[in-house]
Amino acid sequence: MHQHARKLLVQKAKHGKSVLQQASTKKLSTASVTSTPMQEFTNDDIKSHEELYRLSLEKPDYFWGKLARSRLQWMRDFGLVKDCNMQTGHIRWFLDGKINAAVNCVDRHAAKDPNRLALIWEKDEPGTQEYVTYRELQIMVCKMANVLTNHGVKRGDRVAIYLPKTPTAVVAMLACARIGAIHSVVFAGFSSEALAGRIIDAQAETVITADEGVRGGKKIPLKKMVDSAVKMCDSVKRVFVYQRTGGDVPMSSIDIPLEKELAAASDTHHPMAFDSEDVLFMLYTSGSTGKPKGVVHTQGGYLLYANVTMKQVFDYREGELFGCVADIGWITGHSYVVYGPLSNGATTLLFESTPTYPNPGRYWEMVERLKLNHIYLAPTALRTLLKNGDSWVTKYDRSSLRKLGCVGEPLNHEAWEWYYHVVGEGKSDIVDTWWQTETGGIAISPRPSAPGAEIRPAMPMRPFFGIDPVLIDPVTREEFTTGEARGALCIRRPWPGMARTIYGDHQRFYDTYFKDYPGLYFSGDGAHRTEEGYYQITGRMDDVVNVSGHRLGTAEIEDVIDDHADTAESAVVGFPHEIKGEGIYAFVVLKDNVTKDEAELASDLRLMCKAKVSSFAQPDVIIFTPSLPKTRSGKIMRRILRKIAANKPDELGDVSTLLDPSIVDILVQKHELLM
Ligand code: PRX
Repeated sequence: MHQHARKLLVQKAKHGKSVLQQASTKKLSTASVTSTPMQEFTNDDIKSHEELYRLSLEKPDYFWGKLARSRLQWMRDFGLVKDCNMQTGHIRWFLDGKINAAVNCVDRHAAKDPNRLALIWEKDEPGTQEYVTYRELQIMVCKMANVLTNHGVKRGDRVAIYLPKTPTAVVAMLACARIGAIHSVVFAGFSSEALAGRIIDAQAETVITADEGVRGGKKIPLKKMVDSAVKMCDSVKRVFVYQRTGGDVPMSSIDIPLEKELAAASDTHHPMAFDSEDVLFMLYTSGSTGKPKGVVHTQGGYLLYANVTMKQVFDYREGELFGCVADIGWITGHSYVVYGPLSNGATTLLFESTPTYPNPGRYWEMVERLKLNHIYLAPTALRTLLKNGDSWVTKYDRSSLRKLGCVGEPLNHEAWEWYYHVVGEGKSDIVDTWWQTETGGIAISPRPSAPGAEIRPAMPMRPFFGIDPVLIDPVTREEFTTGEARGALCIRRPWPGMARTIYGDHQRFYDTYFKDYPGLYFSGDGAHRTEEGYYQITGRMDDVVNVSGHRLGTAEIEDVIDDHADTAESAVVGFPHEIKGEGIYAFVVLKDNVTKDEAELASDLRLMCKAKVSSFAQPDVIIFTPSLPKTRSGKIMRRILRKIAANKPDELGDVSTLLDPSIVDILVQKHELLM
């Protein structure tokens, strides 16, 4: 047996309880370690990374067609590789192909190597991890698929999943995939109102939740949140309740105890074949206007892109343990906790805790205990940890780590250096990956590239195979074709993992991503390209803030603030924040004759943001002002507010076009008083 697998077996015997007890006596195995960089193209006379990248752009049908056939198991082969129109936002891949994502993620590995570890559930309390093999996962997914079907959930139905990061959450997602139901995972840190908004938009009849979540030693009343959400939603017919803590929660007539159902369900399930373009899942994310939108991903293209990026970007080798610590409520959790790793037959980590629980050594103690080979995390966590000092890292053995990934926001130089030198001791590649909910998987990242090729600090650098980045001058709308440039980051050619639509609103999909720069996908981000052609992300160009890697529309927060009985209007902008990357700065105009104390009002507003969206949506700074800087046509000049919030009053530029330029001085003074 592989040495690593033996260690895990010992760990399992010592601490770990198997999630399905019946398999606990079996031998665990991980596959042998091999490195096969794009073996699919070894006969194509490809000598370098550049040649392979060029092939992916010049012959995309050949490139992706070959990968789709070798990496995924199809129930019926596809015909046309793609039918895409970047003018209209009409995207289709692997036409006429039939596939089942759950079979690709579970059954084919369970058939080949049933005792291979699929999941390591790193529970909130260190040292209490549990293990799930591929065979165990298959049983759990089949049972869950049967439970859903028995209760009338069908292909195309939307299922809202509001669960902590547990095997049950992964099983719920895969069971939906298996029966063709569309999962909509809602991060279990969102408030009941945010959950309700997502349930209503999707018209979900089914919710899967837990009695309570556990994070950082604290219990989170998930069922209670669902109860309040369900009161706002007419569509919900059933709520499955999984017991994470065994907490005493009231059950109503629509609530169904999940464990009881699972125990009674058959552990075999015949998977259906779905069209490559059937919806696999939707996931809500924030935009610059309106309510969060349900970004839709489909079966074949998404799964292939998650599979290939996971394998190539991290150079994943069979038998390794892959540790992406993101929550399953985000796209990172979908692509690099669930679909990417499991479709590769990898062992994937389910990290239920926080980076600082019980202390800032948690990640590294976990790396030593589980012998993780890859860790994939958020820059905000790194910035918090580096402030706590190196000893929390150095006292643990991190020699198992091969690749150090990060995602979600720019990785600043200080955090990059710390990650590379202190965590990785200068031995592991840092892969700063840029991508989005809409791209489905990693789109720009230093790897893959020729082994040993240069990696520059603090930039994602190189486009992934098939990704053709374009920088556009937002004023002239012209492309910067060569050399160093700064502009709007667009992508010219379609790739299999790209989103297909916004649930129920294809027009919004077109307007958001294809209208501004015809023929191109517009990411909403700005980027800088170096002379050598390496990309660095400069931040959002729209009214979206990125707080600790959580994407929030400023309009969403303004909506909540404006709901307060004493608010006349408000404007919210982001500002640079040492730990969170960006913080939230709110300028609030009160109605006439409001006498309430400002501190009390500010506290009201923060509580409302927490209750209606999430705790990370609470403004860091709130300033009350008699008015907002507006143009004569009534448009708020956010550029000015951003400069004030960023503490750059010298860079305000021309304010003469404002209706009332004197308001700027008032705002600057109020801001300075706070500093
Ligand atoms: O602004 C970019 C930032 O996160 C946005 C996407 O957010 P979301 O859809 O929630 O997905 C996050 C995880 C994939 C992007 O538009 N972003 C993501 N990765 C990076 C980044 N900004 C800079 N560097 C990155 N590596």
